[in-house]
Amino acid sequence: MRLISTLNGQASWPPPAWLMRQAGRYLPEYRATRAQAGDFISLCLNPALAEEVTLQPIRKFGFDAAILFSDILILPMALGQGLRFAEGEGPRLPPLETLSSLSLTAAPSRYAPVMETVSRLRASLPRETTLIGFAGSPATVACYMLDGQGGGDFPRTRQLAYENAAFVDQLMEIMVEATIAYLSAQLQAGADCLMLFESWAGIFPPSLFRRLVIAPTKRIVSALKSSHPGVKIIGFPRLAGLMLAEYARETGIDAVGLDTTTDLEAAQAACPPGTIFQGNLDPLLLKLGGTAMEEAVAQILETVKGRPHIFNLGHGITPDVPEANVARLMELIRAA
Ligand code: CP3
Repeated sequence: MRLISTLNGQASWPPPAWLMRQAGRYLPEYRATRAQAGDFISLCLNPALAEEVTLQPIRKFGFDAAILFSDILILPMALGQGLRFAEGEGPRLPPLETLSSLSLTAAPSRYAPVMETVSRLRASLPRETTLIGFAGSPATVACYMLDGQGGGDFPRTRQLAYENAAFVDQLMEIMVEATIAYLSAQLQAGADCLMLFESWAGIFPPSLFRRLVIAPTKRIVSALKSSHPGVKIIGFPRLAGLMLAEYARETGIDAVGLDTTTDLEAAQAACPPGTIFQGNLDPLLLKLGGTAMEEAVAQILETVKGRPHIFNLGHGITPDVPEANVARLMELIRAA
């Protein structure tokens, strides 16, 4: 598998490529399967349909990796927190007031359908296609659990982290344990490697970044690596800015996903030698296509040539991306 070789530190050319949110609303076949499932959460918890939408972009574009179709908020839901997706608005959860409603023991049976999706996928995917399992990192998931929705900078979460540190730290304990169990189960079911989404890394000042982002991530990575020797884990600390280097150095993560704002060469210079990167084409350029996209792709390829690198976007693909641009992107990468 080309993506696993890259995570093992071997430069392959052209670089392996996949796209965050590659299974999604820009594909008509995704919209059809989602309509068949009824709603987004039912789709995540229906192994046959979740398998189908995971495979759709692989069939169409031949990406080097498939990412399990689910959501980072399925884990808090399995722990007992309510979750719904308001049409056109994103996730809504009843903001967490006490930790007693969360149950680590009840979660596995509630997320069992996700594990069935993973094992079905490993059986149906081409052998050379890497299956990526994933979870949200504890701080990012806690942002939704405590504020109840996205769309802002999670004021309640940040305030509680200062004013009720014990409560937030206990929540982090629970989420670290739950995430280790959830990701171990994905590995057991057949995931080839893992990714941790820290989409809101960028809202924390350095002290909170160390306490809520670096420390919990480090515990998850070390637990998974001792129970599953050799497992490779990609971390995506979006908008981490200058904290990126400390994240790469301290967490034990194998590869770092870069957001669109990060200069690849500056990241290479700041992170420990040998750090493997994933990214980081602007999703807006994928929507626009044309020479602007072609030039940006050429520039990324030139920068990473000779190094182990995973080609991706700097954030998820948006529903307004024309399929033809995705096909063209893959053509450009494959012709490199
Ligand atoms: O990448 C993939 O193809 C795999 C599946 C996946 C989804 N969400 C499917 C999804 C993954 C890995 C995620 C991660 C996720 N979910 C993150 C971290 C990555 C990031 O984007 O920063 C976050 C913050 C979430 C929470 C979430 N889920 C939000 C904020 C939203 C609403 C925004 C939107 O795009 O509508 C979702 C919904 C969601 N998750 C969709 C998909 C395909 C769209 C749902 C639909 O079909 O309407």
